[in-house]
Amino acid sequence: MKDTYGDRVEDIRLKEYPHMKHGVYLDHSGATMYAKSAIEGFTHKMASNLYGNPHSENLPAKLSGTMVDEVRQDMLYFLGADPKHFDLVFVANATAAIKLVAESFRDLAEKSQSGRFWYGYHRDAHTSLVGVREYTHGRHHCFGSDTEVERWLQSPGTAGINHFGESDLALFAYPGQSNMCGRRLPLSWNGHVRHSEHLQNTYIQDTLFDAAALAMTSPMNKVFGNVDEAPDFTCLSLYKIFGFPDLGALVIRKESGHILTLRKYFGGGTVTMVGTMGGQSWHRSKGPQVHPYRLHDGLEDGTLPFHSILALGEALTVHRRLFKSMEFISIHTSRLTTRLYSGLARLQHVNGRAVCRIYCGSAQGVSDSAKQGPVIAFNVKTANGQYVPYTEVERLANNAGIFIRSGGRCTKSGSSIGD
Ligand SMILES: Cc1ncc(COP(=O)(O)O)c(C=O)c1O
Repeated sequence: MKDTYGDRVEDIRLKEYPHMKHGVYLDHSGATMYAKSAIEGFTHKMASNLYGNPHSENLPAKLSGTMVDEVRQDMLYFLGADPKHFDLVFVANATAAIKLVAESFRDLAEKSQSGRFWYGYHRDAHTSLVGVREYTHGRHHCFGSDTEVERWLQSPGTAGINHFGESDLALFAYPGQSNMCGRRLPLSWNGHVRHSEHLQNTYIQDTLFDAAALAMTSPMNKVFGNVDEAPDFTCLSLYKIFGFPDLGALVIRKESGHILTLRKYFGGGTVTMVGTMGGQSWHRSKGPQVHPYRLHDGLEDGTLPFHSILALGEALTVHRRLFKSMEFISIHTSRLTTRLYSGLARLQHVNGRAVCRIYCGSAQGVSDSAKQGPVIAFNVKTANGQYVPYTEVERLANNAGIFIRSGGRCTKSGSSIGD
C-alpha cells in the first residue's frame, strides 16, 4: 500500500494548522482548513507589492493582470486541465458558476424557436443544481437513479423518457460526489452525452458537472485528462480545496464555450463599448471578435477579486509543498473514511442495537475512492431505536470539541444501511 504522509501528518498539523487545536474539525466538506503558510505568504506579498485594479493600464494594474493570468493557468494545471482546451472563469463559489451557465442557457433558449431549454438532473444533485429547473418553464426531469440515466444514455428515444418536448437545447447536470452521503457518481456520463448520436443529432446537449465536493479530495485529471470525455462546464468551490481564499471557478471546455458568450447580461469588464445616448442602447461584448480572444474576459463581470486570486496563488504553492498531490490526499482520506466507517458501524448499545444508521455503501464500498468520497452521513439512534435529533447530536459533539456538519439535507437522495 502506498505510504502517503506517514508521521508527517502530526508535523503538518502542528506547524500549519495551529488553529485546529481548538477541537477536532470534521467539516472539511463545508470548508477545509487553511494552512498558516498560505496566509503568511499572502500577507507578505500584499505588504511588499503594489497591486492595482487589473482593468487599468498603470504598472500596479499590470502587475495584478499578469498575476491573475498566471494563477488562472496554474489553477488549470493543478486540475489537470490543459489550458489549450479549457478556460477558467473566477466566480464567488460553485453556485455562482452554476447560475452563470443556467442564465446563459435561459438567454440562448429565449432566442430559439421554442423559447426554452430542457434540463435533466440527477437526484443526488445539490440544491444549487436543482434550482436551474426554474429557468426551464417546466421542461425538466429529475433522474431518480443511475440506472435511469444509463438507460437514457443508451437509447434516449426508447427509454420511456421524452421530456424534451419541442426544446432544441438541453443541459444534463449531476454532481461528481453527493454532498449528502459522499457517494461518487460515474465520470463517464459526460463523455456519453457528447458521443450519443441520438442526443446530439436532435438537440444541442451539454453537460454541467458539479465538482464542488469531488475536487476536494480527488485528482481532477480523471475529469479533465481526456478533453473528449470531459464535461462541457464544471463548477468548483476553491475554498473547499484550499480553505482560503473564498473563491469559486467555472471550468469551460473551450469547444463548448460559445453558448456562454451568448448570454444577455454584460457588466463592467465584459464589454468593449456601451452606447446609451440618443435613445439608442447597444453594447459590444468581449467576444471572439476581440483579439486576443479569451473566453473568460467576456464572462467575469466587474472587477475581478484580484486580491483573492493572489491568495489562491499562494494556496496552490503551499498545497503542493505540504500535500504533494491530490492522489496522495485521495489515498489518505480514503483510509480515514474506511476507519471511521468501521468504527461507527461497530458501535452498539448494550442490547446489541446499532448506535448509528449509516447512509452510504458498505465497508468495502467506502474504501473504493472511485465510488465513495470521505463523507459519512449517519443518524444516531437510542437503544430502543428512536432517532436522536441532529440538534442534540451536534450539541453533544460541540461540547466534546468535535465539529461535525449536521442538519437537513441539501440533496434529495440517500440509500441507507444499518438500523
Ligand atoms: C456537491 C456540492 N455542490 C454545490 C455546493 C455549493 O457550493 P457553494 O456553497 O460554494 O456555492 C456544495 C456545497 O457544499 C456541494 O457540496
